[in-house]
Amino acid sequence: MEKVKVMTIFGTRPEAIKMAPLVHALARSEYTEPVVCVTAQHREMLDQVLDIFQIRPDYDLDIMEQSQTLATITEKSLHGLDGVLKEAAPDIVLVHGDTSTTFAGALAAFYHKIPVGHVEAGLRTYDKYSPFPEEVNRRLVGQIASLHFAPTERNRQNLAREQITDGVSVCGNTVVDAIQLTVKPDFEFQDEALKGLDFERDRVVLVTAHRRENYGEAMENICRAIARLSEKYADVHFVYPVHLSPYVRDTAKKFLGGCERVHLIHPLAVDEMHNLMARCYLVMTDSGGLQEEAPSLGKPVLVLRRETERPEAVEAGTVRLAGVDEEEIFRQACGLFDSREAYEVMARAVNPYGDGQACRRIVQHIAHYFGRVSQGPEPFRP
Ligand code: UD1
Ligand code: UDP
Repeated sequence: MEKVKVMTIFGTRPEAIKMAPLVHALARSEYTEPVVCVTAQHREMLDQVLDIFQIRPDYDLDIMEQSQTLATITEKSLHGLDGVLKEAAPDIVLVHGDTSTTFAGALAAFYHKIPVGHVEAGLRTYDKYSPFPEEVNRRLVGQIASLHFAPTERNRQNLAREQITDGVSVCGNTVVDAIQLTVKPDFEFQDEALKGLDFERDRVVLVTAHRRENYGEAMENICRAIARLSEKYADVHFVYPVHLSPYVRDTAKKFLGGCERVHLIHPLAVDEMHNLMARCYLVMTDSGGLQEEAPSLGKPVLVLRRETERPEAVEAGTVRLAGVDEEEIFRQACGLFDSREAYEVMARAVNPYGDGQACRRIVQHIAHYFGRVSQGPEPFRP
């Protein structure tokens, strides 16, 4: 029997990190053959991931512009994908998560009547403006997709509430598969700032912040809180790999540029990032992916947002919502620096998001959908 031609479409750093192990799993399987199309909604941050996972795209739309708008990303992706889908004619298209590339990828495939598989399906906040525009992107993709790869049982239940029950499997999150490839006990950092840190002597806090709904006052509050924390604690170093968005860069530089023990660095290659996370004391972030990675590495997370679509680790007690108020972020972080006991309660490894087998389950689900194997995957259970 012919192999199923599976086109993955992705464009940003987090999609690439979470799709990379799946591309390799599709290539290893006797039932599937991968075709990779990137919109390059991100350029440098995408290429960093492609390099580490040694993926060479078959199609590259190269759409990124400085300070691009949501409309331009969607429009350029949709237009470019139209030609690619016509030429490549895949049996199925896989998109990941909730970015503008994800939405455009699903819509373009729908226009060609090609079935869509949604990786990381069923995450919801039920607030259409937070995260913005991601909450609406993922709901729309949920309507288009034929296969839904939900990371957790809760994600499956979210889909069921929207009457999406056909073609759903609970697979775990592929980010856990990715981490198993990158984290190594003897890893040596290449980044100069990371090489200069003493992880035995100092407490290192990993900071990231980039969300569009945090642009403005929230991002400034986050930076002010970090500046105050860095003044208060002489043994704490804050490492902040700054997202390349011009707004984020300008804000980080303005509020944190002169702070001692705050290291504003270039975006890290994903293996550097995962190994930094494995060695740090605490993570403070508004990122989605970090909320999934840190728990499996036993690192507490303060989420710099008002809500999260990833409540599983909050319930397990290793992730806490700190919000976007300067005083509250400062207070919650002080609690974890001052009380070893409070820290230890949060610093436990839990794996609500995956067991490293998500890609295998997704490939099996696809093979089953196309009649290549008799059974779908068994569900992921933490
Ligand atoms: C996008 C996603 C968001 C995801 C985030 C991950 C949408 C609407 N948003 O947001 O869901 O969490 O990626 O990081 O899809 N830039 C560069 N080089 C790069 C990457 C970005 O210069 O390699 C700059 C460009 O000026 C670009 C800007 O960052 O215009 C913003 O990028 P964009 O993809 O529009 O938004 P993100 O905030 O990255
Ligand atoms: N990441 C990285 N280098 C960095 C910052 C983040 O490799 O300098 C990784 C991180 O480990 C996670 C992903 O990028 O896997 C998160 O991406 P981002 O925060 O851009 O987006 P989100 O997860 O919020 O959509």
